[in-house]
Amino acid sequence: MKPLLLVMQGNERLASGLADRLGAEIALPETRRFPDGETYLRLTADLKDRPVAILCTLDRPDEKIPPLLFAADAARDLGAARIGLIAPYLAYMRQDTRFKPGEAVTSRPFARLLSAAFDWLVTVDPHLHRYHSLDALYGIPSVAVHAAPAIARWIGDNVANALVIGPDVESEQWVAAVAREAGMPHAVLTKVRRGDRDVDISLQHLGSRSDRVPVLVDDIISSGRTMLVAVQKLRAQGWPAPVCIGVHGLFADESDIALGGTGARVVTCNTVPHKTNSIDVCPLLAAAVSGFVRC
Ligand code: R5P
Repeated sequence: MKPLLLVMQGNERLASGLADRLGAEIALPETRRFPDGETYLRLTADLKDRPVAILCTLDRPDEKIPPLLFAADAARDLGAARIGLIAPYLAYMRQDTRFKPGEAVTSRPFARLLSAAFDWLVTVDPHLHRYHSLDALYGIPSVAVHAAPAIARWIGDNVANALVIGPDVESEQWVAAVAREAGMPHAVLTKVRRGDRDVDISLQHLGSRSDRVPVLVDDIISSGRTMLVAVQKLRAQGWPAPVCIGVHGLFADESDIALGGTGARVVTCNTVPHKTNSIDVCPLLAAAVSGFVRC
């Protein structure tokens, strides 16, 4: 019996590439809102004894979580064998400590919520900073797929003479892996964050300006301030127009438009659907998922 890929709304583009590689059948839950705003959900596929993977990227998670949990619960109730979550972008990873007294450390209850609903989890480059692996948070088997090989290949194919740059110390893990794969040099800048939309970046560790094309690589582009300030500082020092690569382009505040306005080229992986998606992580995701959905 073929595994079933249950595709939550908005994830259709990634679904067909994944289903082909997994030999899975695609099913779309029927969902709508009741007049009072509550979620209606119905699964019509045959789920009995079937391995099921639910595909739901978790940008803007607060509106996605109830339908996702209802889908997982219904699939289990209808007899699915094992139910996993493919979340190309995994939300609530950044509040990984209590920065101010009284704050909820949301990464922990969010992980408990998903661990209770699913049997396994596959995601792409989760924001692991104070936690070193998903196992420190999630109580289910999980795999963090690394987009570095796909990003390195894209840079190699599209940018001659690149210098891979991480905008802050947290990005070192991603830029070092990308630069290693691509056989290119890398550097890391220093960032101070004062608020959600208030960051400053120093180029002090970058060395002197060169003719290399700066390729900024970060895991997440949210407000876009990190990328925007990095681009402005590089331009002010006479560097060529940078390429900005985000694994996950969340683009809050329409930051894609602001970034594009600087002359920088903005490119993302297809973990969150967006017109900047030029780097396909589908083969890497499918390889990680295949171990979980074999019948
Ligand atoms: C920081 O912890 C992350 O790696 C990103 O640098 C950050 O999330 C980017 O956020 P924003 O686009 O809002 O500056």
